[in-house]
Amino acid sequence: MGCEDYLSLREKYVMKGVALFHPIVVEKGENAVLYDVNGRSYIDFTCGIGVTSLGHANRELVDTAIEQLKKLWHMCFMVVSYRPYIELARKLAEIAPGNSEKQVLLQNSGSEAVENAIKIARQVTGRTYIVSYENSFHGRGTYGYALSATGKYKPYKVGFDPLVPGVEFIPYPYCYRCPFKQEYPGCGLTCLEYLEKWFIHSRVPPERIAGVLIEMVQGEGGFVVAPGEYVKELKNFCEKHSILLIDDEVQCGWCRTGKMWAIEHYDVEPDIMVTAKAIANGLPLSAIVGRKDVMEKTYPGSFGGTYGGNPVSCAVALKVVEIMLRDKLSERSKVLGQIIRKRLNEMYEKYDLIGDVRGLGVMQAIELVKDRKTKEPAVEETLNVISKAREKGLLLLRAGLHLNVIRLHPPLTIEEELLSKALDILEESVREVATG
Ligand SMILES: Cc1ncc(COP(=O)(O)O)c(C=O)c1O
Repeated sequence: MGCEDYLSLREKYVMKGVALFHPIVVEKGENAVLYDVNGRSYIDFTCGIGVTSLGHANRELVDTAIEQLKKLWHMCFMVVSYRPYIELARKLAEIAPGNSEKQVLLQNSGSEAVENAIKIARQVTGRTYIVSYENSFHGRGTYGYALSATGKYKPYKVGFDPLVPGVEFIPYPYCYRCPFKQEYPGCGLTCLEYLEKWFIHSRVPPERIAGVLIEMVQGEGGFVVAPGEYVKELKNFCEKHSILLIDDEVQCGWCRTGKMWAIEHYDVEPDIMVTAKAIANGLPLSAIVGRKDVMEKTYPGSFGGTYGGNPVSCAVALKVVEIMLRDKLSERSKVLGQIIRKRLNEMYEKYDLIGDVRGLGVMQAIELVKDRKTKEPAVEETLNVISKAREKGLLLLRAGLHLNVIRLHPPLTIEEELLSKALDILEESVREVATG
């Protein structure tokens, strides 16, 4: 059976609500290359949405998983303890951003991590409200806080209202499309002024806010990077009002931005950090890492789950940390990011279709517009570039409020020659669409 046969089976048996972006069926992967069931190969610039950062079928990770599978593959951590969970908790506490002592809770997905971070914030502060951002994404895997705190309506929230009350949204510092029509730098951070001088008087007073939930680089939002001073000022605001700063590193963590954690670019310590995706290179696992004095106040028995912190996932995550530190992958992310950025900047000079180039580390993106002055989103063109790239053997991802952003998620282990080939394909595809 080939791709088409499996896709028609998928259409017949899999619920329509799970959409499909690339109409291919993959059989296996090797580092940065995926092979479909017809035997065709593709360079994978998706990493299953920023997950397989150490490449597909990474030998060291496969061996680690097999070893752990032979010893113990499930035990509920609320029934008895096991080593990989405890060792991973210690490791995460050590490598988490900031100097305060930390404690950890392990779950299965990014959505669950966000759910639990918000539960912690509410339980520990005794306050109700969570402030989240427009154009943010915090998960659709759970009905509650993750989806409720996601700042985009379609497709994630369609038909699910009402969601969990007590989440309020403020504009993200999306400087290319500033909702306040300001230019950065030089705007004096009008968006933050809105929070400090307007929002807390008109919407929710600070003493009712449990936490502010923010992605340092919006992932699904189109790789929008928060400016440095914004995050520092936000931290000051949170400290002043005893509000917890909750850093969602699900997509931008694990060396993607050129540092282990994206928040390290800002020299700010979050009170709670949530992470998932690349943590175990694709085995289901997520973590909530919080300041010990916060985490210690949680009520025994009100957190957990049958599967959270699976032993095989934890063993692999420990290996992921070891490899990332041993092979200095944050540095590699920086170097690969510079190569990518240089090529994207060159494309920007050549093609007016590209309105903005942005990102940190390998997390780079281009936003496509019909006109650089009006910034009208080039939605169809974005899809055309992506499908042309796929025809030429490169898998890309779309993102953004208007779905006109092409975001790059290559593995950190990609060979430079292959990276360069992928960027050639991207450029060829942009050129073909830009020149009609
Ligand atoms: C920033 C962010 N938070 C949370 C999530 C939800 O993670 P999951 O899909 O593992 O539930 C995602 C997923 O893309 C994400 O990008």
